Amino acid sequence: MNDLDPLLQDARAAFAQAATPAELEDAKARFLGKSGRITEQLKALAALSPEEKKARGALINSAKQQVEAALNARREGLANAELELQLKAEALDVSLPGRARGTGGLHPITRAMERIEAIFGSMGFDVADGPEIETDWYSFTSLNNPENHPARSMQDTFYVDMKDAEGRWLNLRPHTSPMQIRYAQAHAKKYAGAATMPDIRVIAPGRTYRVDSDATHSPMFHQVEGLWVGENISFKDLKAVYLNFIRSFFEADDLQIRFRPSYFPFTEPSAEIDMMFASGPLRGRWLEVSGSGQVHPQVIRNMGLDPERYIGFAFGSGIDRLAMLRYGVGDLRQFFDGDLRFLAQFK
Ligand code: PHE
Repeated sequence: MNDLDPLLQDARAAFAQAATPAELEDAKARFLGKSGRITEQLKALAALSPEEKKARGALINSAKQQVEAALNARREGLANAELELQLKAEALDVSLPGRARGTGGLHPITRAMERIEAIFGSMGFDVADGPEIETDWYSFTSLNNPENHPARSMQDTFYVDMKDAEGRWLNLRPHTSPMQIRYAQAHAKKYAGAATMPDIRVIAPGRTYRVDSDATHSPMFHQVEGLWVGENISFKDLKAVYLNFIRSFFEADDLQIRFRPSYFPFTEPSAEIDMMFASGPLRGRWLEVSGSGQVHPQVIRNMGLDPERYIGFAFGSGIDRLAMLRYGVGDLRQFFDGDLRFLAQFK
């Protein structure tokens, strides 16, 4: 025990109370600064005799060292606490679930199309693609539509403000039927002069456009055209092919189809194809799914083929309708709204 003990205790208490490095520096000044209590003690040595100075000096020095040691210990303690805080703030919670990257999915119409292509592919049909901006000739004239046919009117067909080489307005194709002519022409050209020509057997799915908009009609919609032309292709082939297709598409072997007389300028005779589910919510109701018919001789001619030799059938089905039935969608417009909550169901 000596008279410097209270000073030492005060220093330790002051350092312990300092909560930040800045407060600690303030406390240090009160003991070791220019007019700090230790410094005052040292100054007081001047008044002592050499002997007293020696003994008192040693005492003060020992106290000073202890104050410095206490100061350093507190400095270290504060630095550790600060580091601890920082680590805590920057800590990663590795138990949190990660943010998964969203995966996209195919649009239900695309899925339906791929399905249709796969089924007809398995029956030996080629898949063709063609322009959506068409000439008047391919959309109408080549398909035997007379000049005054109502389908050509502005009320039914979108026209593009641009003309083709013959000075006729271009249009957004109102059906995929122009692909019958485009594909058959290319095929006929390829085998011109050959002794025999392999059958034309193709489907052409794609976008089509009409001035029409409600719960079951969209101004942009999808069709798949089918065409099989050869030397001996008949309506019974159409029935077999279509029945096989529609049963595969809906995975229903008991699905029925019927042909209902109809009219298209490019087929003769013409028929609507209706289908009926044998089970499920729509069982027992005839649903119209396709136009069809035997390709008109004038259309065969427009393909660059001899109608005395070649004959076949064509059909055009609405893909959106098929997709609605397959996926149980009530409003056609949902397909084209771009609402991810709707689309994500098909992933
Ligand atoms: N193109 C017709 C339509 O859009 C469908 C059809 C195609 C009919 C082929 C007969 C043959 O309504």
